Amino acid sequence: MRTFDDVLIKPRYSEIETRDSVDLTTELKLTRLKRAITLRIPLCNAAMDTISSSALCRTLYELGGLPVLHRNCTPEQQKDMLTESGIPDDYPVVLSISVNDYEERLRRFDPGRNIIISIDIAHAHSVKAKRTVEWLVDHYPDHAIMIGSIATAEAVYDTMAWGADIFRVGIGAGSVCTTRIVTGIGVPQLDAVLECADAAPGSVIADGGIRNSGDGMKALVAGASLIMLGNVLAGTDDTPGMIIDIQGKLYKQYRGMASKEVAVSLTARKEQSVYEEGADALVLYKGSTRQIVHGFCRGLRSGLSYIGCDSMEGVTTADFIDITPNVTRENGVHDVIARATSEAVR
Ligand code: XMP
Repeated sequence: MRTFDDVLIKPRYSEIETRDSVDLTTELKLTRLKRAITLRIPLCNAAMDTISSSALCRTLYELGGLPVLHRNCTPEQQKDMLTESGIPDDYPVVLSISVNDYEERLRRFDPGRNIIISIDIAHAHSVKAKRTVEWLVDHYPDHAIMIGSIATAEAVYDTMAWGADIFRVGIGAGSVCTTRIVTGIGVPQLDAVLECADAAPGSVIADGGIRNSGDGMKALVAGASLIMLGNVLAGTDDTPGMIIDIQGKLYKQYRGMASKEVAVSLTARKEQSVYEEGADALVLYKGSTRQIVHGFCRGLRSGLSYIGCDSMEGVTTADFIDITPNVTRENGVHDVIARATSEAVR
């Protein structure tokens, strides 16, 4: 079983003359609905309350990605987030719901609006998620249904049989997740994506553990059609929350959706009893969201050019090479970059 740091992608002959010409357009296949969602870039934001905002959704929409509305807010606030983002009705937007509040949340939205309903639950291969998917297929038969978190082919087959269209893959891989530490549960993320994309080609989102465009490229080669970003977007301008100045260094908050702080507030509001499986962190303030997304996309374009692809077509035919820790040491320039970056930040 492997994760991103266990592999590299083998370069191939390329006829691409300029990386700028590489097209990042991606499709999410909706098998049950016999259609696809097309996006100009293969990126979406994590459904987290320190990431998702009207401003961030707006930016992702403008750049051609898939905006995701988080659900750690009231149904009215969630609706307002979408209204304030100004995204047109015909552009797809993901609405996160829980297995307890879906009727209340969905009632707020015009059924004609292009909404992907995302069942957002820590363990989606479960009976409550099954009931929710079945209810959604009955009541909103024309809406795409996203489901997660899952991490196995069995979970893909079962949730697909219930009616799910898009599969959000990743259990415990997230940068502020403590699920693996608290419970011992998880699947190394690269193999989780490979296994799930094999079960549902064209319909998988890689969620969690993506730290840079290199990891994103590996997720695409593994079969993900879309990459969900929490940590990469954390600390950028469009995320919610204040910039915090600590002895002249600037930070923003980034917290897991099952972090202690969230768990305490949800339990106090008696909305649900949350088991604590997430961390609360400060990340360095990164500035423009747009610049971060541009940089990430440049990395993906460059990665595709190294394997001879001028588009996403054929990306999954590239090969992974298993590496040893010595290879990581060979990437000596990392230390230099890390030092230079930390000095620049200082
Ligand atoms: P990255 O690595 O991009 O991961 O920061 C974002 C993803 O992490 C998941 N997530 C959590 N997982 N406990 C968990 O076990 C949490 O509190 C938590 N909060 C977020 C989620 O899938 C997100 O997209």
